[in-house]
Amino acid sequence: MEIRIFENKESLSRAAAQYFIEVIKSNQKPVLGLATGSTPLGMYEKLIESYNDGKVDFKNVKTYNLDEYCGIDENHEQSYRTFMNNNFFNHINIDINNTNIPNATGDLDVACELYNSQLNENEIDIQVLGIGTNGHIAFNEPGTPFGSKTHCIELNQKTREDNARFFNSIDEVPTHAITMGLANIMKAKKIILIAIGAQKAEALRKMILGDVTEDMPASILQFHPDVVILTDREAVKTLMK
Ligand code: PGA
Repeated sequence: MEIRIFENKESLSRAAAQYFIEVIKSNQKPVLGLATGSTPLGMYEKLIESYNDGKVDFKNVKTYNLDEYCGIDENHEQSYRTFMNNNFFNHINIDINNTNIPNATGDLDVACELYNSQLNENEIDIQVLGIGTNGHIAFNEPGTPFGSKTHCIELNQKTREDNARFFNSIDEVPTHAITMGLANIMKAKKIILIAIGAQKAEALRKMILGDVTEDMPASILQFHPDVVILTDREAVKTLMK
């Protein structure tokens, strides 16, 4: 694992975007693994800026997102489809048909199987990840088997509390989601994990220095050959002690 510590979100986001730009430029048909939440927003802004400056072209890019809430329509204002369209896809020249997010409104078993077969056929060149305060990556909550593929999970209370800020109340936060599994994530050729702020410090410390255990899903990344962690001073405070 390589760890890069940044003084501010601006420089971190620019560095994160640069990894993606390099992959896009060096592949004829790049496949990007994308994420939602607050963490990757700065990176999307920098990628949009680069696109507007003519420095990157998304014409041949394909994307797979990590997860989607169950039971809310893709047009719902808090669906991850809406998030991705509003914060990224609508601002670049990507073919929207090449953007993939699990469909979590119909038959969930069918949706998981379909997503797994798509991921088997399309190797992800670079995956961006955030980390939950409980150590989840994507929605793989503590206890998720390391061998898991795309599956439906029940969100744990901490995750629902963390995400309640996007809804009117915690009662509106969906209880379930479809998520790429840990085995899918580990197949990505390169992984960029972004952790910003003191609230991520404990999870980050356990991920990097703790045991590799299913109780701390992100710890599996210790076994990945190409992970770069982009972080700030607040998030690494407990690492430096
Ligand atoms: P956040 O979520 O980016 O909103 O902090 C990260 C995560 O839960 O994986």
